[in-house]
Amino acid sequence: MRLRVQGVLPASQPSALRDGTKMRRITANVYMTLDGRGAFPKYPGSDRETKTANALFRHMWIARYGDVTTVVMGRRSFLGHRRVWSSKARKPSDPKFTHDYSRYLDNVDKVCLSHRLKSPGWENSRILQGDLSKIVAKLQREDGGNIMIEGGPRLVQEVLRRRLADDYWFFIMPVVYGKGPRYWGSMTEQNTLKLLEVKHGEDGELLLHYAAVR
Ligand SMILES: NC(=O)c1ccc[n+]([C@@H]2O[C@H](COP(=O)([O-])OP(=O)(O)OC[C@H]3O[C@@H](n4cnc5c(N)ncnc54)[C@H](OP(=O)(O)O)[C@@H]3O)[C@@H](O)[C@H]2O)c1
Repeated sequence: MRLRVQGVLPASQPSALRDGTKMRRITANVYMTLDGRGAFPKYPGSDRETKTANALFRHMWIARYGDVTTVVMGRRSFLGHRRVWSSKARKPSDPKFTHDYSRYLDNVDKVCLSHRLKSPGWENSRILQGDLSKIVAKLQREDGGNIMIEGGPRLVQEVLRRRLADDYWFFIMPVVYGKGPRYWGSMTEQNTLKLLEVKHGEDGELLLHYAAVR
């Protein structure tokens, strides 16, 4: 099924402002289990080794290499990505698409949010801290393409609570997990989104693409 909602820009385009200038569009990725936990559990097919990227990975990442020029992460997710996804972590025998993804992440402007981390230890990275709304506004004023907020759950929950993203990708894994960081514990008010698109993964995952309603 593919739905298009009139008046909502595709994720790959910057938002146009009334004065004709372009605003960097912000997408937040929300990886969660059916019970709203931000974890990556194993389930049938989840650790299958493939030579090529699956359709959901192509959609969420490969299709966006050209337009997303800044990736924002909380400290824990940043360190996790650095450990698992920087080119230094790649083995020659890894599939080509993982080398491509690692190269993309090495090269992209990365923002790690942290009070504790003193040095990012990953090229093209900077550490920012403070009020999240101000940080996002500062990034939007900078030159560049679109901005991806790539977890973790605490950061994404704050983005949702403050309504900072233009659109959201919910990557939902077919597991009721009962552990891992909660996404929804501290939501205090309704946040209504507009469904743009639904995609099915090979192993029961769902990718739900929503636009913010402003
Ligand atoms: N895409 C993903 O990365 C993803 C998705 C799903 C699940 N997960 C899993 O979720 C876990 C981590 O998630 P998490 O939610 O606990 O951590 P997180 O969001 O990655 O990082 C939280 C940390 O980010 C820093 N931070 C956030 N906002 C800040 C701000 N405005 N100013 C300064 N620092 C700020 C703080 O670090 P300081 O303590 O340094 O101040 C905070 O402790 C990992 O186990 C990971 O595997 C990750």
